[in-house]
Amino acid sequence: MSNGNSNIDESKLQFENVFSLPIVQYQTKDTSDMNKELKEIILKKEKDTPTTNKSNQGGWQSEGDFFRWGGSSIEKVYNLFLDLISASTKKLDFIQTIPMDFHIYGWANVNRKGHSNIAHIHPMSTWSGTYYVDAGDDLDESKCGLFEAYNPNLSHLTSFFPGLLAGEYLIKPKTGMMNLFPSYVRHGVRTYYGDNPRICIAVNASMRIKSP
Ligand SMILES: [Fe+2]
Repeated sequence: MSNGNSNIDESKLQFENVFSLPIVQYQTKDTSDMNKELKEIILKKEKDTPTTNKSNQGGWQSEGDFFRWGGSSIEKVYNLFLDLISASTKKLDFIQTIPMDFHIYGWANVNRKGHSNIAHIHPMSTWSGTYYVDAGDDLDESKCGLFEAYNPNLSHLTSFFPGLLAGEYLIKPKTGMMNLFPSYVRHGVRTYYGDNPRICIAVNASMRIKSP
């Protein structure tokens, strides 16, 4: 590389990183009472209802009817997702003027020691996300079941500075934290090793164009 005697005026370079990928994180406040209620509701449901089998390797996943279970804490977490989706969508400034709303459905998840979620996408949805009702034990990063999002642009991994650019983005779950990402992004959850259960709510949100 050049050591300073460049023929290029770097201040004149028009350099843009295009085709970016939004990944949103938001730490909620004053949600401990809501989390306590949600934890009770979800653990009771786990006892009474067999798991569905989707991405979970071990663990328990409810049906996608979570927001129809009823109660104020479920309504509150629904509204949190609605507002997070709205605030995040506003950041995508190219769609400011398009009237739209979102159909959101969700399901509850309980992962215990040794459980994980295999990599998957959510076809036909727009945004997907998670709310951690209880992230479980605060373990080091190799044990805590990190959330993993994979770069959908596979070609950059093999041909653009191969081995040097990140192929995945990792998030350490925290109680009260939300995340949101485009549903086409492949993601999974590494194995969790805590003694206390990890409880979260996952959602898919589909954009609907509103008719005038
Ligand atoms: Fe997912």
